[in-house]
Amino acid sequence: MSPKRVAILISGGGSNMLTLLDSMTGDHPARPCLVLSNDPQAGGLAKAAARGVPVASVDHRPFKGDRAAFEAALLQPLLDSAPDILCLAGFMRVLTAEFVAQFEGRMLNIHPSLLPKYKGLHTHARALEAGDGEHGCTVHEVTAALDDGPILGQARVPVEQGDTQETLAARVLVQEHHLYPAVLRRYAAGDRSPIFLG
Ligand code: GRF
Repeated sequence: MSPKRVAILISGGGSNMLTLLDSMTGDHPARPCLVLSNDPQAGGLAKAAARGVPVASVDHRPFKGDRAAFEAALLQPLLDSAPDILCLAGFMRVLTAEFVAQFEGRMLNIHPSLLPKYKGLHTHARALEAGDGEHGCTVHEVTAALDDGPILGQARVPVEQGDTQETLAARVLVQEHHLYPAVLRRYAAGDRSPIFLG
């Protein structure tokens, strides 16, 4: 069976994107077909290109909040690469229900909290603020509701005494780099049973 084609959407450095790219080798049931960013300056684009992966970007700024128009432009390179699976990896734009509907059931996202806790932004600061003893990250299927779809994997980390949001984020990011590749490999093989690490 030919490998599943995976498009990865990023907004910045793309450390999760890189671990996904580096995981899709050998008998892995998927291969990357595109790395796409809403920021032409995203550092991850050069790293992906250096690995021979097709890249594209659609700057969201000229669309000045016209989400539908931006997404219509984003869709072009995406559909041209004919992906079977989309992975949002540090992609910082909220997608409309209409966009999501075109990929529902084959679009994943990684979120830096133990969903359903702390949907949205500033998750590490919120966990510290709440005095949580543990924190972590979640890979989930993307649905129209933000950070809300079926959970495909979670990784937990302890919150340490004296943690700042930076030290906590760094500890979570290490686990993101283990969790996302593990979930993608299983998902691409057609297995949606969740993975729990840590
Ligand atoms: C990570 O915290 C990830 O959970 C969130 O974006 C941050 C940066 O990710 N989605 P990356 O280094 O760009 O992959």
